Amino acid sequence: MNILVIHGPNLHLLGKREPALYGRATLKQLDALLKTRAAGLGASLRCFQSNCEGGIIDLLTAHRGWARALIINPAAYTHYSYAIRDAIKALGLPAVEVHLTDISKRESFRKISVIRPVCAARFKGEGPVSYLKALEYCVKSLNKS
Ligand code: DQA
Repeated sequence: MNILVIHGPNLHLLGKREPALYGRATLKQLDALLKTRAAGLGASLRCFQSNCEGGIIDLLTAHRGWARALIINPAAYTHYSYAIRDAIKALGLPAVEVHLTDISKRESFRKISVIRPVCAARFKGEGPVSYLKALEYCVKSLNKS
């Protein structure tokens, strides 16, 4: 059960970036937590971070033969990247949108997600737990199919 995890721009700064909002865990710690949980659920993860729109699209393309599901936190691209939205749709895999914060309760530009319509589910506002819930959702969906 292969699941691709993609973190978008500025998430490499987790732990240092606005810790009151995004928490103190680093991206390395978050990926380690997800990989440990995935192993317990019988899933295998590949985790990547990119600060570039094209970089994210290239990652989706590069791992399309391997992945069976996608967990993505597109970060600020969530709110305006039709290119990433199209790439997720083109991937044709079950995709889950994730956010550490609750984007529905922040600035008005963050309330919009152009990614949501191409994702089967969204988990937000629970820090690393949002990702863990996305992982559990993917495992359950893949076990059913
Ligand atoms: C984020 C929310 C986005 O609005 C923001 O641009 C991010 C992180 C989150 O995980 O809460 O970089 O996706």
